[in-house]
Amino acid sequence: MNRIHIVSNRLPFSINLKDDQIDLIPSVGGLATGMRSVYKEYNGKWIGWPGLPSDDIDDGLADRIEKKLFEEDCISVHLSKREIELYYDGFSNRTIWPLFHYFAQYIDYDPELWEAFVNVNKKFADKALETLEEGDTIWIHDYQLLLVPEMIKSKKPGVTIGFFLHIPFPSFEVLRILPWRKELIQGMLGADLIGFHTYDYQRHFFSSVRRLMGYEISFNQIQIEDRIIIVDAFPMGIDYDKFKKAASDIFQKPLQEKSKLHRELEKYFLLSPDRKLILSIDRLDYSKGIPNRLKAFAKFLKDYPEFVGKVTLIMLAVPSRGTVEHYINLKKEVEELVGNVNGQFGNINYTPVWYFYRSMPFESLIELYSSCDVALVTPVRDGMNLVAKEYVASRTNRTGVIILSEMAGVAKEMGEALIINPNNINEIADSIKQALTMPLDEQRERMIFLQDRIKRYDVFKWSSEFVKSLSRMENIQNSLHAK
Ligand code: ADP
Ligand code: G6P
Repeated sequence: MNRIHIVSNRLPFSINLKDDQIDLIPSVGGLATGMRSVYKEYNGKWIGWPGLPSDDIDDGLADRIEKKLFEEDCISVHLSKREIELYYDGFSNRTIWPLFHYFAQYIDYDPELWEAFVNVNKKFADKALETLEEGDTIWIHDYQLLLVPEMIKSKKPGVTIGFFLHIPFPSFEVLRILPWRKELIQGMLGADLIGFHTYDYQRHFFSSVRRLMGYEISFNQIQIEDRIIIVDAFPMGIDYDKFKKAASDIFQKPLQEKSKLHRELEKYFLLSPDRKLILSIDRLDYSKGIPNRLKAFAKFLKDYPEFVGKVTLIMLAVPSRGTVEHYINLKKEVEELVGNVNGQFGNINYTPVWYFYRSMPFESLIELYSSCDVALVTPVRDGMNLVAKEYVASRTNRTGVIILSEMAGVAKEMGEALIINPNNINEIADSIKQALTMPLDEQRERMIFLQDRIKRYDVFKWSSEFVKSLSRMENIQNSLHAK
């Protein structure tokens, strides 16, 4: 197969401007972390938004940014403040994100947002068309660019297009709420291969295609006139060996070389054998179920007072979409809840919740993954959730327990975790107790299965399976066109 270009809303690196200096910061989120490990293998470019508004960038600075990104094989699509407001904050994150995560009460139905979404999708499609050369393939990612496959296909029918959705695809009864549901499906159907994390999302997609468009589906194929579209499930993995190696290296490091976070944890005796640590890591997003997690931790301390003073919840929340109203409200709610738990159960020597509202360097994440006894992963909806897989990969001594929401795509691959309903506070509280008292033998028994599975289907396997299917589509396309 020839070059494959990646197209996604966000580039794997975001630009940070400091005085005259341009720094590339790794972008956070499953799409960026996963694809960053593999995209260079495809010899193409990654087309996307560098994360800052174009209004304040003069031509000279734009050229310098372009050069810097080009060193990483990235090409930028610049967005103005207005486009960010209407397309990114707007239709992507105030309409599609809540709709696809079953938060119908948060959906904004403003036609102005839709219009901006169409125009910005066109901007991405045009940039991709400009970059494409004869024989190149294109792989488009995620909900912000649902219209791009059709926009490219209608201009260049011969190009093979893959599309992968990193978030859940909702059931038809939810999708139909949206006035522009048909347009979204039509946009996706411009791709030759459409991938989802799980079979359930694929099933929901088929149901919408059948009911909205009336197309026939046989097995995993949709036939539209002289075109065939394949739809399949590809559960995304992580760079397992990278996490495993980093976690083993950490044990070899002398204390003075460990991160500031590690030294802090040591200083406050959080790493002592009589302290248990629970870890919670996400972007600050209402789909992640963070308030319920805090309520469940408070319920656990109330129901099992023997653990007060002995268990600490380390909660990392990366700032995300901070100009969208529901995210601003969530931040306040989480801060209040953290304050309540600490006020109710803490004392001068004991802070039950250590809350960090920031992104962390990779080394600190690894230290936390390897030193926490329990990972609390309780989204109310999540396309996949890579944090759960990263925790598993970092447990070099094969102990540790995951409490995992049945609403995360990853739950399909992690039957050995303690599976909970994220709205059942009592169940989560009891699972925390079960996790903290689980015998080491049982922890290892569960972890061995989890590790074997997550290692086997890592991000390289995920992407190579997708690309193999894309290449098959290319052959099918060529033979159809040769007829
Ligand atoms: P989502 O894609 O919805 O953000 P995932 O769990 O699939 O959720 O992916 C989140 C990614 O972001 C993971 O790779 C995780 O390591 C990273 N991440 C989450 N929180 C932080 C943080 N505080 N600092 C740095 N990286 C983070
Ligand atoms: C999820 C989405 C990605 C998105 C990421 C971070 O993982 O699936 O498309 O990039 O969240 O969100 P942001 O809005 O900061 O790009």
